[in-house]
Amino acid sequence: EKIELDAAKRLAAETAVDQYVTEDTKVLGIGSGSTIVFVVQRLAERVWKEGTLSELICVPSSFQARQLILDHNLTLGDLDRNYKIDVYIDGADEVDSSMVLIKGGGGCLMQEKIVASCAKTVVIVADYTKRSLRLGEQWCKGIPIEVAPLAYVPVKHKIEELFGGEAQLRIALKKAGPIVTDNGNFLLDWRFVAKREYDWNEVNTAITLIPGVLETGLFVNMANKCYFGMANGTLKVQS
Ligand code: A5P
Repeated sequence: EKIELDAAKRLAAETAVDQYVTEDTKVLGIGSGSTIVFVVQRLAERVWKEGTLSELICVPSSFQARQLILDHNLTLGDLDRNYKIDVYIDGADEVDSSMVLIKGGGGCLMQEKIVASCAKTVVIVADYTKRSLRLGEQWCKGIPIEVAPLAYVPVKHKIEELFGGEAQLRIALKKAGPIVTDNGNFLLDWRFVAKREYDWNEVNTAITLIPGVLETGLFVNMANKCYFGMANGTLKVQS
């Protein structure tokens, strides 16, 4: 199954790179996660094997993305100099029929959202397990929310009072204690009530306004296009 999933991720990733990254693309935002690895591999192939895209600057959305860019010898940019991003490519944990995304399964939502917000076009690449009609349909580890460490308990209770469900501190596997993000914060995974009708724009705004919340993993009205690699080897495009 892993091979099948990886093939689906690779197909989505390579198609997105080949359709959206051209000689006119000056600055490309690089997302995080396992699918983005295939994006960077394809970019490196275009640059180092095919001798194209020599002007391309890549802006990372996480420590992982930065390492990928450096490992493949691509040109590393940053938001101080390269805040006008042409295209941002990233994965997602779940995508609904209106292209609302859940992100942050890998813990990188805040930088991802900042870089995505600087991009003219946001392209999502994912395998078929991420595609839903409505959020929470297939799988629900919840919506990741990045919080200031000292505020995680009050934020947890405020979210549960406002919108139900349960918000849980994300605990590290091989360390005693919580996961610490690239930005030194904690994460809450909010398992919302899957059967309830939520207005995700409203939920996102309300949670973002709770003091101590730095960012939510809900990406509303950000994605312009999604490529899904399907189990049968075909591609589905959503826009
Ligand atoms: C990183 O924190 C996430 O937002 C990822 O973009 C998301 O989890 C998708 O990751 P995969 O490509 O591994 O599914």
